[in-house]
Amino acid sequence: MRLTSAVLAAFVAAGAAVALQAQVKERPLPRIVKKDGRFALFVDDAPYLMLGAQTHNSSAWPAVLPKVWPAMEYLNVNTVETPVYWEQIEPKQGQFDFTVVDALLAGARQHNLRLVLLWFGTWKNGSQHYMPEWMKLDPVRYPHMVDKNGRAVDSPSPYADASLQADKTAFANFMRRLKATDPQRTVIMVQVENEPGTWGSQRDYSPEAQKLFEAPAPPEVLTAMGVKPATPPQNWQEAFGPEAEVNFHAWSVAKYLGQVAAAGKAAYPLPMYANAALRDPLKPGAPGTYESGGPTDNVLPIWKVAAPALDVLAPDNYTNNPVAYLKVLDLYHRDDNPLFVPETGGNTNTRFFFSALGLQAIGFSPFGMDYTRASADAKAREEAFAPWALNYRLVGPMMRDIARLNFEGKLKAVAEEKGKAADTMPFGEWNAVVTYGSGRGNRATGNAEPTGRALVAQLKDNQFLVAGFSCRVDFRPAGTERQRKSGQIVEGTGQNPSAQIEGKWQHRQFLKVEEGTYVNGAFKFLRIWNGDETDWGMSFGTEPLVLRVSLATY
Ligand code: DGJ
Repeated sequence: MRLTSAVLAAFVAAGAAVALQAQVKERPLPRIVKKDGRFALFVDDAPYLMLGAQTHNSSAWPAVLPKVWPAMEYLNVNTVETPVYWEQIEPKQGQFDFTVVDALLAGARQHNLRLVLLWFGTWKNGSQHYMPEWMKLDPVRYPHMVDKNGRAVDSPSPYADASLQADKTAFANFMRRLKATDPQRTVIMVQVENEPGTWGSQRDYSPEAQKLFEAPAPPEVLTAMGVKPATPPQNWQEAFGPEAEVNFHAWSVAKYLGQVAAAGKAAYPLPMYANAALRDPLKPGAPGTYESGGPTDNVLPIWKVAAPALDVLAPDNYTNNPVAYLKVLDLYHRDDNPLFVPETGGNTNTRFFFSALGLQAIGFSPFGMDYTRASADAKAREEAFAPWALNYRLVGPMMRDIARLNFEGKLKAVAEEKGKAADTMPFGEWNAVVTYGSGRGNRATGNAEPTGRALVAQLKDNQFLVAGFSCRVDFRPAGTERQRKSGQIVEGTGQNPSAQIEGKWQHRQFLKVEEGTYVNGAFKFLRIWNGDETDWGMSFGTEPLVLRVSLATY
């Protein structure tokens, strides 16, 4: 390399960055923790909820970042998801340039934000478009996949050992750079590749792939998918029939990704995940109608055994069908997988942030949230982001409490579904009852558009934290566990919710309803609600509002 003054300046700056970081106190490593069947992402040794937003794909460049940070500030996010580009990081094989990564770290710290960095490596939306030029120009060494007719597909071969080794080396170098320059843990998680898999062919048909496809399917895959091993051992086709090709490709892609993730973790063990372009969760089409090989819901067990270095398999949830949206959340909230929504969109889906919280999500992130494509008119562009910003304005100040209460199993949350005017969330001896739209008590009608959403967390036996939008929340006595089991509980109607429990009436009574704000992470009392503000339950509008509610019965 010619030592021009620009190159020299870059070296000096990079050296200075590393030296400076050496003086910063090292914080605990972010990690995923599982306890009592629930997951949390720990950041600075405590549960953390990623209130995230993802930039557009080409926005992570230093010259463009001034159009990113103001949008993030407007959105009230605490975490920005943004790519790092293999083609930029390793422009010549073995020569690494981390100026873009350094700029992201510096900008995020300046704006008091955390980062989730997305490794746009071998796969980006099923293609190899982010491979460096020196790889693109050598398709023999770094081959594409081959389809049924022997034609090259716009997707990398998961059997290309040279590509795998190159990706592992580059990714490990990137992770080493983070380790050296980020003792303050600005980066809390890393996405390995982006929507890996293949469009346009269910699997690779190269001779090497064909040989593996005809060989016995690995026993751990059979076990993971609940298929009984047979004698003689079955090949993929025999074991899986019409799902054979998609399962085989998932195994191949996951194996590759698992090795890249493991190489990165050996350098610096941050939590890592892979994201999925989904198949329709309600009416999944036949294999071939969705991206093949990625962590779609049908192959999650294969991904889990093939890529144990990945902590999370995460759905990019873009559907505008509310039933499908909720089904996706359900499918990725598993005993072996924390729920994390790294990409979502559609302003009518903003309320599902609450549904995700109700499933102990560790993070949520709408996509394309910067000002690179937005209207030049500040008011117009902010209006487009406003529904997302509102959620985070409410939860941001109490994020640590929400994350902790959720990890402890004390939080429930719901979003309104069209045609359903009420939701009930059971908390032992109390039921939290959420109603939507005008009309009090049992006469609720539902909002004209389903925008209602609420969260309730139990602070003590008879004390709750309540927050939400466009709904009314009240509490109804639910009896002891023994009484509930007896089945003799009849809900009463009328002004303050009551129930006849084993023949005796119990009425809800408010001891104290405190409105507050969160200051430095702690609830700060503002005033007591009573009279019209509580007589028909507590009403939440379109401004952030947090209440602490103490209850008794009479
Ligand atoms: C999903 C991808 O993961 C993103 O990088 C981006 O391409 C979006 N689709 C575009 O909608």
